[in-house]
Amino acid sequence: MSNMMLLRIWLVLLTVGICRVAAQEPLHPAKVTLNKDDRNLTPLVNRNGWVNPEDLISMPQCIAQQDQSAWLSTMTKCTSKQCTSHFGVICTHHQWLTQLSCLSTGFSSDVVEAYLSYCSRSVLAKAQLFRWIHTITGRTWLVDVGDANELQTLSPASLAKGYASIEVTDKAPRCLTDSASASSMEPFQHVMASCGFTANTGHTGNAARQWEYSETLRSIIALGFETVGYDLTQSRIEYGDYFDKRCFCDAFSPDLNAEPCSGPGLALTRERLWLNATCGPTSLAGDWMDGLKTTSFAYIPTENWRWPNCVTAMPQNVIGLTDQCMTDACELDSSGYCKIKRAVDRACFCRNISYNTCKGSCQIFETRIDYVKWLHDLCGSQQGWHGLPKHWRHLAAPTPLDMIPWRWSIKPTRNSSPTSVDRSKSSKLTQTCASTESKLGSLVLINTGTLLALYLVPRTGTMLPAYGYLQYSRSWFLAGLTIAALHLIANWINAVLIRSTLGYEDIPIFQLVLLWCSMPRFTWLTILMICVQPFKATSSSAVKSCLFAESILQILSAFHMIATVNYGREHNFYSQGMGRLATVSSAQFMYAGALMWLVVIIVALVPLIQAIGGINVSARGARVSVSKSQTSKHATPNSIQELMAQFNERWTWLEEKLVSHWIDKSQDLEETPLTSSEGQAYTVYGTLPVKGPGNQIINRRMVRVSLITIISMIFLWVAQWLFWAGFIGLSLEEFCPPKLGVLTVIWFASSMAVALVAVTP
Ligand SMILES: *[C@@H]1O[C@H](CO)[C@@H](O)[C@H](O)[C@H]1NC(C)=O
Ligand SMILES: *[C@@H]1O[C@H](CO)[C@@H](O)[C@H](O)[C@H]1NC(C)=O
Repeated sequence: MSNMMLLRIWLVLLTVGICRVAAQEPLHPAKVTLNKDDRNLTPLVNRNGWVNPEDLISMPQCIAQQDQSAWLSTMTKCTSKQCTSHFGVICTHHQWLTQLSCLSTGFSSDVVEAYLSYCSRSVLAKAQLFRWIHTITGRTWLVDVGDANELQTLSPASLAKGYASIEVTDKAPRCLTDSASASSMEPFQHVMASCGFTANTGHTGNAARQWEYSETLRSIIALGFETVGYDLTQSRIEYGDYFDKRCFCDAFSPDLNAEPCSGPGLALTRERLWLNATCGPTSLAGDWMDGLKTTSFAYIPTENWRWPNCVTAMPQNVIGLTDQCMTDACELDSSGYCKIKRAVDRACFCRNISYNTCKGSCQIFETRIDYVKWLHDLCGSQQGWHGLPKHWRHLAAPTPLDMIPWRWSIKPTRNSSPTSVDRSKSSKLTQTCASTESKLGSLVLINTGTLLALYLVPRTGTMLPAYGYLQYSRSWFLAGLTIAALHLIANWINAVLIRSTLGYEDIPIFQLVLLWCSMPRFTWLTILMICVQPFKATSSSAVKSCLFAESILQILSAFHMIATVNYGREHNFYSQGMGRLATVSSAQFMYAGALMWLVVIIVALVPLIQAIGGINVSARGARVSVSKSQTSKHATPNSIQELMAQFNERWTWLEEKLVSHWIDKSQDLEETPLTSSEGQAYTVYGTLPVKGPGNQIINRRMVRVSLITIISMIFLWVAQWLFWAGFIGLSLEEFCPPKLGVLTVIWFASSMAVALVAVTP
């Protein structure tokens, strides 16, 4: 507003101290019109070519803003005291009147020329001047013939660069509004006044009395002037004060080598933005954008400032950086002018931050990814900033380490040894971490322990029929416990072995024992071996003990399996086809294995519980499904029902097959079959025994449980292999048990022992 006040004061000073009163009054339409005939009628009393000066058309704005002495003296020359009232020959009343014909010759080209260059700056001011001259003299030119042609029909397009509200001068810094044009030394405000106009033509000063003859000054004086109005272009704009941009930009040229505002800083930015928005980039030097304090990039408005998620782990001096780097900067408004905003200086902030500034949670997985991205967005394009490590792109995605679902690892802690000799020993251990192949190899080897035992047992077993009765009475419960205990003890011994190694003192034994419970085992092969053997009373017990032991181990291994699935779910590893793990295929194996494990457990548990729960349930279920499949043959069957029926048929067939296989084997070998009396003892475990041709009683439930167990264990075994192969490939140095050979031998021995315990009749 202050600039507008200045402008107005300035205008007023130029007009001989007349208050600006009438400017707001819109002109009567009859007076605004450009019709020249109407103009000529305006002088009310025309006494033989002499008129009252106050009836003359008001002074144009651009004349009022210049030295008017030549203008006034021309008018004064045409003004003299005239008698306006006679009584006979005696004059009774004198009046100062102006002779129109004198004016029309008085305002010759010569008089106008002196004023023209200033009045030509703005096309509107020039048109206003022309209208005055035309009214007074009837000329259709100002100085030279044809120089007013384009002024007679103005349109909004006549303002070639458009106009702007005078209020935008408030957005210019003081150093600019107080400066002067470099070429003419004309002050900014003066240039602005010469280019200013109002929405409508109006009058300043005494609207009814714009001219007067002052007897003391012996001259015509102006008591007001007519402002230039946008209505000269035959269109209307909102009430207010404006300026012609082309007029201003042509007349005001700052010194590009010594700009009005010294920089660098906010004032220089405001100055350049103001000149660019008003006059366009051509009014400035080519490199004017350098060092601007704008919020486009170099300065971040406080409301747009964002911290990374790990902000709580950031050191206090980094948090405080935003305050230290806070400054004023320009946000461009819709017209391109500066709007001052509080903002953070990006360069200042980046100078004092790098990747390692924030440790702790900033360097762990998701928060690390967020932190690295934040840092890169913030400072990545900052010149000379090298705050991110060279491999930062790996840090911005999940690393193999992030894909391990738990935080503990098996690797030597370096600084655990006090002496340098020990330290060199422990570093040697790190170097000799077993390769992935040998780790997988030992896993395969452990599995072959079972194979070896199963190869040996039938020979030894059949050779020792005497033990048959002894084994018969053994409890499947105790045998199962023994098997599980053998596994757990082997795991525990190995964990203790590792922990007793130098540098591995911090290994979590409990976690390790649980993790090893999920190692793939040939339990399904053991059970299969039992089933293809001739049916014996011990078969059922052996299957049960295996199943019991396996249940214990699977329940224990659930700890890490479910942890893996859960971790994968939390971090979106399973979505989009495991897209996040795409770079590390072993991680895909591991997570797929864990998920498969979980699915198999859930899917197998339902029929298994049904089968164990009682043959009644399953028998009824079987009868229902049979009757269903029969009825569905008559009705139009849908494909799922048909599939289910087919599956039921096959399953029943498989069960029958196994039953008859057992019976055949038992007959072939002429082994003592289970007599009815023995069978009765046996039916304690279930009802509805199936009677074979040899009157043998084979528990149908047994068959079903064995089948389900074998099939689901094969799937579990595959899942565990996937999991372990993936885990070993993924963890590399993180899972580096020492003395791998010794561990393997212990497990190998334990798996042999387990198989022997399970199948020995
Ligand atoms: C400078 O002005 C031009 C044209 O008026 C405009 O397109 C450009 O965005 C302006 N530049 C800045 C940095 O404001
Ligand atoms: C930022 O870094 C500069 C130089 O690297 C140093 O002089 C200044 O003290 C630092 N400021 C803070 C707040 O750490």
